[in-house]
Amino acid sequence: MSKKENNPEITKKPPTAKKPSVKRKSDKKDEDWIKDIIPKQRKSVPKQQKKQDLSDIAVSQIPGIGPAISEKLITSGYLTLAAVGHASPIELVEHCEIGEQTAKRLITAARSQMGIGFQSAKIMLETRQKLVKIPTGSKSLDTLLAGGVETSSLTEIAGEFRTGKTQICFQLCVMTAMDKKYGGLGSSAIYIDTEGTFRPERIIQMCNKFGAPAEEVLNNIHVGRAYNSDHQMVLLLESPKLIKEHNAKLMIIDSLTSHFRAEYAGRGSLVERQQKLNKYLHQLLRLAEVYDIAIVATNQVLSKPDVLYGETTFPIGGHIVAHSCQTRVFLRKGKGEKRIARVIDSPHIPEIETIFAITSDGIADVVVND
Ligand SMILES: Nc1ncnc2c1ncn2[C@@H]1O[C@H](COP(=O)(O)OP(=O)(O)OP(=O)(O)O)[C@@H](O)[C@H]1O
Ligand SMILES: [Mg+2]
Repeated sequence: MSKKENNPEITKKPPTAKKPSVKRKSDKKDEDWIKDIIPKQRKSVPKQQKKQDLSDIAVSQIPGIGPAISEKLITSGYLTLAAVGHASPIELVEHCEIGEQTAKRLITAARSQMGIGFQSAKIMLETRQKLVKIPTGSKSLDTLLAGGVETSSLTEIAGEFRTGKTQICFQLCVMTAMDKKYGGLGSSAIYIDTEGTFRPERIIQMCNKFGAPAEEVLNNIHVGRAYNSDHQMVLLLESPKLIKEHNAKLMIIDSLTSHFRAEYAGRGSLVERQQKLNKYLHQLLRLAEVYDIAIVATNQVLSKPDVLYGETTFPIGGHIVAHSCQTRVFLRKGKGEKRIARVIDSPHIPEIETIFAITSDGIADVVVND
């Protein structure tokens, strides 16, 4: 056991030196220690808070946590009980500078509060029915996505250049950041821009269609420019604070793969690239679930001219991206402003496609002239 582990900052009655018969903390197994503190501490979580969304329960409510450890977790971006409950011990050790045993104890305590385990499909349905769907600006695209882009979920938008990936991201930001009276969510959005293509001017144009005050919308969109894949990962670790502070409901990664692709070129570095991308995608998935936020990641495509039948372009990232993203949308260019969107993978949407348009006002339905 490390020096840190001998002096954990999780509060527990210290063993008294006068009574040698009392078992020392170090003699106990982890599980015994947890059993000791949890029943006492459970009462301290207000009943009202249990009914609340898990994303609202602060990290300081983890049974037995002390202020110093609480501070370390918050500084490292673990703001809620659920964020710790979903973490792995290695990850907490790496990010928060705490000992492995402390990390294990915190995770066990958080999970016991969350009641992680089985739940009935009926309860799952009720939870899913409460999920917010972000409209895309096009009714046909919303219908394709069964109502819009879902929160607590990771959606990939892939396609060749100028197929409208970034435009859809802009529109989703507007729909999220705009006040409810204009048809928005009245929330805020986080935009991780890896390609330097975020354009506030375009957001203003899109606001005009709804008559929404652009300044207010721009204030509710928080843009982080990622200069390389490491920076992209750091921005992700910083985002929980922003999400909580601004009640964000949407996070955009535009694009997911461009830095990874550029930095790990060649077959020799493919394994390393995929490992790093896998880690990043898992962090995204967890963030979506823990903070009940919609995460939309754009992806470039790769052309495979040697393919004789069917699709010749494929989203980058291979199986790792394919398995991680819950909904995958593939865009193609149509005539003029028309674009074709196809759902290529989803656990609840069939493989269908629809047409939408990119207009000066933003994403819209195609106008059919008789
Ligand atoms: N102000 C505008 N008015 C109308 N259409 C626009 C406007 N701005 C951009 N577009 C359309 O959007 C297209 C670019 O789309 P977008 O930037 O979303 O591409 P992308 O899929 O993100 O491409 P890349 O892979 O290069 O990032 C342009 O080719 C144009 O057709
Ligand atoms: Mg783009």
